[in-house]
Amino acid sequence: MSAARHPAPAIARAFAPATVANVGCGFDILGFAVAAPGDEVIARRCETPSVTIACITGDGGQLPREASANTAGAAALALLAHLGDPTGIELELHKHMPLGSGLGSSAASAVAAVVAVNALLGKPLARNELLPFALAGERVSCGPGAVHADNVAPALLGGFVLVRGYAPLDVVPLPAPDGLYCALALPDLEVRTLDARSILPRSIPLRDAVTQWGNVAGLVAGLLLADHALIARSLRDVVVEPVRATLIPGFDEVKRAALAAGALGCGISGACPTMFALSDAEATAARAGAAMRAAFLAEGVDCALYISGVNRAGAQVLPPDAK
Ligand code: HSE
Repeated sequence: MSAARHPAPAIARAFAPATVANVGCGFDILGFAVAAPGDEVIARRCETPSVTIACITGDGGQLPREASANTAGAAALALLAHLGDPTGIELELHKHMPLGSGLGSSAASAVAAVVAVNALLGKPLARNELLPFALAGERVSCGPGAVHADNVAPALLGGFVLVRGYAPLDVVPLPAPDGLYCALALPDLEVRTLDARSILPRSIPLRDAVTQWGNVAGLVAGLLLADHALIARSLRDVVVEPVRATLIPGFDEVKRAALAAGALGCGISGACPTMFALSDAEATAARAGAAMRAAFLAEGVDCALYISGVNRAGAQVLPPDAK
């Protein structure tokens, strides 16, 4: 159902968080949002019809400035086309996370764009109705054959999200226990999602499939039952991780360090190279994160670190002058 129209402001600003897609075993079907980092988009009305990218910061000049080729621009264009709205809109995109890091950078930009544009237009759509347009933006960065919703859905909705199916898109927000914390270790490497997908197997042995769907079901059940031990047993990926781990120097050492520090589980965030560790307390997450960072540094790889609770709020409209 569409939301009731609100008064349309002259400017709207939105934040969308980074996300941990896959959550180990749930390739392309599970993800969760973290509190930080995240991207911001500011949308303004302008005389020029359609969507214009006025400026991008934080991307080192790497992202396309052409709206239709940019995830934020393409998402905004898809939303305007759906609404049949002729308003000319100018976007500022402020990136606060590295590209190609496995944190759902393109998804955060696309989600922040649709949330900002929807707010600028007086919120004609409810939040969950924005998902297909954010996904249209994501498609620009990953290509039509590789589109996945396990970043955009949690970036938009917050919390843990299951993508039950793609045809049609069926997204299920999952309750999760309070007090889960995530350590994100971002090694100073860039891996393009397309490259990280191109190395994946096209078929898998049935016994691996059985292990994998047991873990996916176990993880979902563990979240619903608030069963930390079950979550820990299920945070295992026998399909994608063994292949992508080869792209991350020190993967085994980093994972061992996180588990030794008490994390429930540790794996690859999204398409890599960021590694995540989930813990049942903030202090444990901080210990796990420090141990992961030390393990990367011992490999000669510099590493940034974020410790964050699970972000249940998802994307947010911000006051235009928020710091
Ligand atoms: N599920 C996607 C992948 C996430 O692993 O390729 C990319 O961010």
